[in-house]
Amino acid sequence: MAVDQETSIWLAVHQEASAEIAREPILAGFLHTTVLKHDSLESSLSFHLAGKLASESLPSILLRELIDETMAADPRIGRAIRADLQAVHDRDPASHGYLTPFLYFKGFHALQAHRIAHWLWNQERRVLAVHLQNRISEVFGADIHPAACMGSGILIDHGTGVVIGETAVVEDNVSMLHEVTLGGTGKQTGDRHPKVREGVLIGAGAKVLGNVEIGAGAKIGAGSVVLDAVPPHRTVAGVPARIVGMPHTTAPALEMDQSIPHVYTDGSGI
Ligand SMILES: CC(C)(COP(=O)(O)OP(=O)(O)OC[C@H]1O[C@@H](n2cnc3c(N)ncnc32)[C@H](O)[C@@H]1OP(=O)(O)O)[C@@H](O)C(=O)NCCC(=O)NCCS
Repeated sequence: MAVDQETSIWLAVHQEASAEIAREPILAGFLHTTVLKHDSLESSLSFHLAGKLASESLPSILLRELIDETMAADPRIGRAIRADLQAVHDRDPASHGYLTPFLYFKGFHALQAHRIAHWLWNQERRVLAVHLQNRISEVFGADIHPAACMGSGILIDHGTGVVIGETAVVEDNVSMLHEVTLGGTGKQTGDRHPKVREGVLIGAGAKVLGNVEIGAGAKIGAGSVVLDAVPPHRTVAGVPARIVGMPHTTAPALEMDQSIPHVYTDGSGI
């Protein structure tokens, strides 16, 4: 019988956990309670996130119920979790399978916990959503406003220092590295954050400021400050960022193509 992708990712996590117990008996208890005793990816992740995000004000047992209820209410969350895990597996050379990012990668955890906070925000349970945002940023070091709209198949590598503002949109198959800011300029109110279209790659430490559109398949160099719209399939770099070339591929986020192919010394672009 063919195994669909939804099941195969869970099977892979499960099998890798079993194999790891043989290699590292010291982790047997953790792997058993976190992965092996569960019957689905959702159940395992909910248990794991609840343990990490628990606090005196919201203990893990209550958090677990909340996460389970949210995932059951919106099956798109489960699909997005799998697409994100597949993205980490395919694009992050440090992932070595599915189990390691599932258990340990903060960017993945922050994004999945954000998906719960985002659902709560849209249900008008806004204080609880912000409560969760606060714990996510305390625990994982990434601060994603619960109203921010995140697509699926997203890689947030490392997670540390990532800040994504309230009216930001990040479409499917985007990759970003640590310390990326999708923020406001401080001069606008209302809809004031970037709109990042499909397949964009954002390098470490890049600051994208204002309600600017980053076109599909664009690439932003590490450490850039982007203040203007970026056309699709262009590479920008610098402070402030200027067009410096064109990515080799249509979706640089998928290839993690971090090269700057062609630099125009006069900054005039292509
Ligand atoms: C500095 C800032 C307030 C803009 O100030 P401003 O005086 O209105 O500047 P403008 O947007 O008119 O830009 C003036 C020039 O400075 C450049 N510039 C603006 N912000 C810049 C920055 N952060 N770094 C480098 N150059 C910058 C612009 O490109 C422009 O250059 P040009 O005249 O050659 O085209 C704003 O861009 C900024 O950096 N705000 C901080 C926002 C922030 O930290 N957000 C995070 C929220 S989570």
